[in-house]
Parts: sequence; C-alpha cells; structure tokens
Amino acid sequence: MNQARVQAMKKLIAGNWKMNGNGDTAEAFDNDMEEVLNKYSHVEWLICPPFPYIASLSNLQRGAQDCSAYDRGAYTGEVSAAMLADMGCTYCIVGHSERRTLHMEDNKLVRNKVKQLLSHNIRPIICVGETLEEREAGQAYEVVSRQILESLSDNITSENAVLAYEPVWAIGTGKAATLCDVTKMHGMIRDLLKSSLATAAKMRILYGGSVKPSNAAELLNADNVDGALIGSASLLHEDFIAIGKAVEI
Ligand code: PGA
Repeated sequence: MNQARVQAMKKLIAGNWKMNGNGDTAEAFDNDMEEVLNKYSHVEWLICPPFPYIASLSNLQRGAQDCSAYDRGAYTGEVSAAMLADMGCTYCIVGHSERRTLHMEDNKLVRNKVKQLLSHNIRPIICVGETLEEREAGQAYEVVSRQILESLSDNITSENAVLAYEPVWAIGTGKAATLCDVTKMHGMIRDLLKSSLATAAKMRILYGGSVKPSNAAELLNADNVDGALIGSASLLHEDFIAIGKAVEI
C-alpha cells in the first residue's frame, strides 16, 4: 500500500490555532510534541498556525488556515497554494465558518481554493456546517450537503482531501454536538459521498466544534468520525495530546 493511502487511513488530529500564538509559543509547542509524534503514530498529527509561524514548526506536520483562489499576481495580502507548498504545507483548511461569515466566502470560492491546493499537492480540509437557525429549521443536512456538492472539485479522491463537519453553533462555544448528532450527520455525509462522488467515498470526515480532552474519546471513536479539527484546545499542547491519545488503536 502506498504511503499516501496508509496516511489517509489514520485518524487526523488537526489543530487550528486561528489568529493566536507567536513565534516563541509555536516553537515551544513544536518541541513539546517531538516525543509524542513517535509514541502515538497511530494517528496523524497536524497543526495549522497563522501564516508567519508555519516555519516555526519543524517536528509537526505543517498546515495553513486559508489560501488564495488565484495562482499569482496582483492580489495584495493573499498567499497562494504554491507558496504554501514552498513552505512545506501538506494540508490547508478552506471554507472555515469564520471565513464564510466574516469574509463572505461562498462555495464557489471554496471550490476554486480546493482546485488551487490540489494542483500543488496540498490536501484541502474542506469545512462545512450549519448554523443554529438552520438546524432549528430542520435544514442541517440540506445545508451541509449543498456545501459539500458545491465546494468539492471533480478531481477529489478519498486520499487527496479531507472534509470537516463543524456545526457553526458548536465552534468556540464549549458546547460540542452530541454523539448522536455527529454520527447521524457523518453517516449522511458518508452516504452522500458514496452516491455522488464515488472517487471520494472513503474520504476522511473530521468533526470540529468544542472538541476537548473530556469529549474526545466518545467523539473520535464513533462511526465515520475520522479525526478532529480542534480550535481552542489545540493551543495547549497537553490538551491537544490528550485528544490524540483518546483515539483507540
Ligand atoms: P473550537 O474551534 O475547537 O475552539 O470550537 C474549532 C474550529 O473552529 O475549527
């Protein structure tokens, strides 16, 4: 079995630092993880720091939190997928709800970012999720399935990309979705992939939204949960490690 496939079968423990930390904290975190990476290699570890601190990671796998939908040129402030590849990034988060709401990103833009990343061999972590209003109106599945179908490009496979189901109401609130909600949604996403995107039928589906050491074992060992996208609990290395350790071998 090739390396990419072996890796794509491990659960992915991905930290999203958002706009937090600095060069010193990133370096210290990376040093503290060195032993853990060898000891707990049954999971795949990843940290997505702010752009300026990506290079501070030398032990941990490097990811980014966003990228440009364009190749190169007059796009002040943007960072291209080629530049991320140059920085050694293997993954990049796209379509995070904070970008969808604060920066008006829509599925078409997310899809263009996905295409850019794939053309530079970076795996996109494509975030989808419904708001509380949408959930209460019974539209959660409809919203999530539309986001998936419109954000994924044609050349997606089970190995070259990852989905992250992150209900907006669970992000940064301390209130994760229940196990029942998560397994139901992940099961529906799996069925959707199988029926509509056969090449991506086995794509990993991460859960994100208030994942912490106390709920990690329950969420991470559930059916069709192939890892976690972790915000605030990824800032403390003890918590981040505890979450990864909760994955059953
Ligand atoms: P949280 O963030 O773990 O702090 O809820 C998750 C995310 O935004 O990816």
